[in-house]
Amino acid sequence: MRRTKTFTLISTVAAASLLLAACGGDDTDGDGGGGEAGGKSMRLALNQTEEHPSYIALDNMGTALEEATDGRWSIDVYPNETLGAQAEAMQLVADGSVEMAIVSGPQLENLNPDFVVFNLPKVFDDVEHQMSVIHDEEITGDLYSSLEESNNITVLGGFTQGARSVYTTFGPVETPADLAGMKLRVQESDLHIAMAEALGASATPMAYGELYTGLQSGVVDAAENNEVSFATQRHYEVAPYWSQTNHLVGLDYLIINTDVLAEMSDEDRAAFDEVWTAAYQEHTELWTTATEEAIAQAQAGGATFTEVDSAAFDAVLAPLAAEFITTETQQALFDAARNAAR
Ligand code: GCU
Repeated sequence: MRRTKTFTLISTVAAASLLLAACGGDDTDGDGGGGEAGGKSMRLALNQTEEHPSYIALDNMGTALEEATDGRWSIDVYPNETLGAQAEAMQLVADGSVEMAIVSGPQLENLNPDFVVFNLPKVFDDVEHQMSVIHDEEITGDLYSSLEESNNITVLGGFTQGARSVYTTFGPVETPADLAGMKLRVQESDLHIAMAEALGASATPMAYGELYTGLQSGVVDAAENNEVSFATQRHYEVAPYWSQTNHLVGLDYLIINTDVLAEMSDEDRAAFDEVWTAAYQEHTELWTTATEEAIAQAQAGGATFTEVDSAAFDAVLAPLAAEFITTETQQALFDAARNAAR
């Protein structure tokens, strides 16, 4: 098992390196990506499709950055896990072969357990609350710089994943008991494994890009995500039973290689911060419409949406906070997040 995993990682990283060598980081001829001759083009690894709000907002951010820095900096977004799944992308950003990536909160939990706090069910009440906490420097300053020395990664802030719910291949889940013994795909983190187990399911960690096939082939029976991913990944084709559990508001982070960030002049860094702020604001605005469109698309494709008593799910997941908050730093982050709730 371990050997297979290592091999997959090596081959993915090797494939990504070949691709990266072919793409090049600095655009010296000024024909795109890097803007003016000698401009620096940053590759950004994303696991979503080009229809997803994250792609749209990041692509616009790249254009705005190129304009604001007169072509000294630009961003090329690589969607669909082209540069690897999130766990690999995170390593590539750490070693500098990719400059930026979007990674889900549970991935960062594997580098610094303090990130677990923002991955907990019910730490955020809704998208608005989440965005106010994760872009409050007083709350997140130390957390976001905590990977700089250890991993050469700076966290810049995040995009919401909206509320996540459960969907299955076998029928609507109305209470946690309906998940008993079922194989539930989770993101690769201890918290998410514990979450599946608390729901009575058998936890199956898996990369996002493998999930369609996983559901189709019966390797897993169920998954949990937001409506936008359910639709853009076309998971409804193979797992059409959506149950509105809303068990947590998920979070994606934008990460960048710390050395690359340090290369920016003060002026370019200020421009970068400005276009990033505009990008997460645009993303939040796009999110509501994208969710409505996703539901319509999935329903047109045969998916059913079932309202459930979400309190029954909250009740079995609530004890995870006490289990996973084990240090004062984590408790302080949790308290700060909860105090910011309306
Ligand atoms: C969402 C999230 C991704 C994450 C995915 C998953 O789509 O935006 O960053 O990888 O969920 O469940 O793996």
